[in-house]
Amino acid sequence: MTFSALRMSGRIALITGGGGEIGSAIARRFSAEGARVAVADLDLAKAEKAAADITAVGGQALALQVDVGDAASAQMAVERTVEIFGGLTTLVNTAAAVTPDGTAETLPLEEWEKALRINYTWAFLMCKYATPHMRAAGGGAIVNIASQLGHLHVAGRAAYCSTKAALIAFTQVLAMDFARDGVRANSISPGFILTERSSRRSGGKENARRLQGPLHLLNRPGDVEDIAAGAAYLASNDAAFVTGTDLLIDGGYVTFKGVIGADGRPTM
Ligand SMILES: NC(=O)c1ccc[n+]([C@@H]2O[C@H](COP(=O)([O-])OP(=O)(O)OC[C@H]3O[C@@H](n4cnc5c(N)ncnc54)[C@H](O)[C@@H]3O)[C@@H](O)[C@H]2O)c1
Repeated sequence: MTFSALRMSGRIALITGGGGEIGSAIARRFSAEGARVAVADLDLAKAEKAAADITAVGGQALALQVDVGDAASAQMAVERTVEIFGGLTTLVNTAAAVTPDGTAETLPLEEWEKALRINYTWAFLMCKYATPHMRAAGGGAIVNIASQLGHLHVAGRAAYCSTKAALIAFTQVLAMDFARDGVRANSISPGFILTERSSRRSGGKENARRLQGPLHLLNRPGDVEDIAAGAAYLASNDAAFVTGTDLLIDGGYVTFKGVIGADGRPTM
């Protein structure tokens, strides 16, 4: 076996939600490890900024606008990537809508269906269009970004928790369906990662660090780079024997299910 500092050399990656905080960190990391990256996001300005950050330091990146909930748009993102970079080996599904809180009784059907479309059906669509190109490339890797809340569920967040749990199950079936094509499929379940989106409920990043940190065994929220490192591992040949797994990058959140006390000790 050979080891390369540029583990993603020769890879062509498409990252949905690539303009977001976790998605853009994954794009930067893949580029730093040698991949060419298509950064696809509903918000084109964010995709362009993420791609520009990569090209500014000598990487190869392309910005695309995509609505992952729309089949034609998802297909277009795949086809444009293949047209411009000459193939596709790697798909990272990061996009997610902000899902409204609510119970089965209070959540409007339209909101439930929208959450399913953007947080779950999108992965199905992206894979539908991407896998033929991965097979043509002789194999590839899919990484779906799920959540710790796909493992431990919380009251009032039916749409988010159930779409993320379903995404983990879908990834395992993907692994089975495409193993013969040399396509590996894995998911990542992040713990609380300090981004604008996740911090909004806590009233900003500083409050979120204080409130969410102690729910993790390592007594801190995660950084976007923690997730980017895991995605690069799963997408690279270092994970050549890894498929159908869910990688918890959660600082021990799911194992712990407790709170770190003021004295720094775990309490239940
Ligand atoms: N931040 C956390 O604590 C955390 C924890 C667990 C899981 N996650 C997951 O990580 C992923 C990224 O989260 P983030 O915190 O970086 O959020 P973010 O809001 O920064 O990124 C999400 C991106 O998805 C894009 N997007 C939304 N709808 C889209 C659509 N229809 N088509 C294409 N793109 C669309 C947004 O424009 C945004 O750029 C999400 O799937 C989220 O559920 C985050």
